[in-house]
Amino acid sequence: MTDISSEKTKNTEFEPTRAIRSLSEDVENSMLDAPRSLPAKYFYDERGSLLFDKICDSPEYYPTRIESALLKEVAKDVIDTSRPEYILELGSGTSRKTRHLFDACSSSQCFPVYTAVDVCDEILVESKNALEKEYGWLKVNTVSGDYTGGLGNLPKNNAKNLFVFLGGTIGNFSPKEANVFLSEIREVMTPDDLLLIGADRVKEPEILHAAYNDDEGVTAEFNLNLLEVLNRELDADFNTTKFEHYAYYNPLLSQIEMHLVSMREQKIRMKNLNKEVHFLEGDHILTEISRKFTRVELERLLIDAGFKIEKHYEAEEMKFSLILAGTD
Ligand code: SAH
Ligand code: AVI
Repeated sequence: MTDISSEKTKNTEFEPTRAIRSLSEDVENSMLDAPRSLPAKYFYDERGSLLFDKICDSPEYYPTRIESALLKEVAKDVIDTSRPEYILELGSGTSRKTRHLFDACSSSQCFPVYTAVDVCDEILVESKNALEKEYGWLKVNTVSGDYTGGLGNLPKNNAKNLFVFLGGTIGNFSPKEANVFLSEIREVMTPDDLLLIGADRVKEPEILHAAYNDDEGVTAEFNLNLLEVLNRELDADFNTTKFEHYAYYNPLLSQIEMHLVSMREQKIRMKNLNKEVHFLEGDHILTEISRKFTRVELERLLIDAGFKIEKHYEAEEMKFSLILAGTD
């Protein structure tokens, strides 16, 4: 992994439109007693973002490869349909797949400004530097902030915007949260704008299980890194060797559930909160859900949030969807 913390570029910060809990408040709210959980956004410090990128290269984690291949195939159609003046990507990470859209822009002589929005400052800086080197024509704005705090303050232009939300990250929201988030995207869109969203589809449990339990243990490292985030931010004393990564597919809810399981009874001190958390052996923290959708559920999710489906592109064999949606 490269050290990207020394980069100089500054990101623009966007303010939430409603109060969102701080990490301390989330921990106080849902970590002190069972059932314990934490929002998945806390995975993405610099190390977490680089580990996620490494997961994307693992042979078992099919979503990136499948979505990337599908996007490569349909990017020209997406760009020719939308002809965007701005591409605004939510949770852009390294923007690795978005490059297919930029390639299509180059070949269709369409030169939008790119706004990358992410909660991880360092990954935004690295992406901007890399993208501006790769695409001579591309102007990249990097905007850091938490998109669960509302989108009203996003820097948005009165021009044709293509909103992009890839990776199946919509699956990391509960059904209620997904509806709120999509409705908020819909609210900031004008009739000229379009949304391109990627979502993973229901498939064989074995394939799903392997994707979240890769042999090299990168997903385990990504999950355990959350404890390092808590150690740093809350001056806590989690020992990552005393917790284990546990991820399984729950077919009743069509979702992967990812946990950190305490391997023994232990007390964890969080000095900044002046609190101690008591774990029994087998106690666990739910760190992420990753929902998998049927075609119908996915379209319903978008329609319920006020969207009109313009195009539904599908990867056939290893099911994955990319949907281009407009305002109703
Ligand atoms: N879109 C990329 C990255 C997906 S990983 C891809 O498809 O590969 C999820 C990304 O969303 C990470 O880069 C993470 O930092 C970002 N993210 C997660 N929660 C967020 C939040 N609440 N607000 C803003 N960005 C968030
Ligand atoms: C970002 N998100 C869509 C990934 C997923 O598959 O739910 C995060 C991830 N968690 C473990 N592996 C990948």
